[in-house]
Amino acid sequence: MDIDPQTYLMDTTLIEQTITEKTKCILPVHLYGQCVDMDRVLDVAEREDCAQSHGALFKGRKAGSMSDAAAFSFYPTKILGGYGDGGMVVTDDEILHAKLMRLRFYGMEKTYYAQEHGYNSRLDELHAAVLRGKLKHLPQYIARRKELAERYDRMLADTGLTLPKTMAGNDHAYYLYVCRHPERDRIIDELKKRDILVNISYPWPIHTMTGYQHFVYRDGDLPHTEKAAQEIFSLPMYPGLTDDEQEQVITALCEILK
Ligand SMILES: Cc1ncc(COP(=O)(O)O)c(C=O)c1O
Repeated sequence: MDIDPQTYLMDTTLIEQTITEKTKCILPVHLYGQCVDMDRVLDVAEREDCAQSHGALFKGRKAGSMSDAAAFSFYPTKILGGYGDGGMVVTDDEILHAKLMRLRFYGMEKTYYAQEHGYNSRLDELHAAVLRGKLKHLPQYIARRKELAERYDRMLADTGLTLPKTMAGNDHAYYLYVCRHPERDRIIDELKKRDILVNISYPWPIHTMTGYQHFVYRDGDLPHTEKAAQEIFSLPMYPGLTDDEQEQVITALCEILK
């Protein structure tokens, strides 16, 4: 379904009309660090994609705690990142938990006896150790992200950039700080000339990719998504970004957009 152009999150008003007899589940993606309006989806939603929203809150509830099952990514750049690929599913459903434990281990509950078709998807112990160490610092990581976001908000307010909007009820964890401008490509080129590299998350909507032409949507069907993909870009945002480095980004943007 299409996005809300203000927050880039799924437009929850479209849920009912999008459901067909083929719908198996609704998967709200808590994109860029803030949560989808879970009050609106909870009647029907079963799962959450929290890959970008460790520590984000929606009306006081943590991302990952609002549905039957939620997936987190520990890809190294995430808010809580390991030193290699990894992830986690959280659930409060015992049956689902037992199934997930089997699926990650070749479908086995009893050693060397597969009860169902499974995978090799265990979290490597070294990565787990790194993640356990970093987990203690998660509140500080998020606090620093918020501090950086607050500074970008303040210093870029008059540049003509569309800055990220936080939906009411959300406590944004700022995985990404996504701006928007019709001259996005020129701005990125100018930043590059000043050795400032920015990322576009994401340049191509999924339904326009060759690999997903079996989906029902065609190019042109999700106008807000398609327009956003042409105009968005993410400013440097990670806890290790220093005040001086952020200052350089802000100064460069003010120059480019004056
Ligand atoms: C919103 C979202 N969902 C899912 C994923 C997939 O996570 P992983 O790369 O750990 O499989 C990612 C990360 O790349 C993501 O950003």
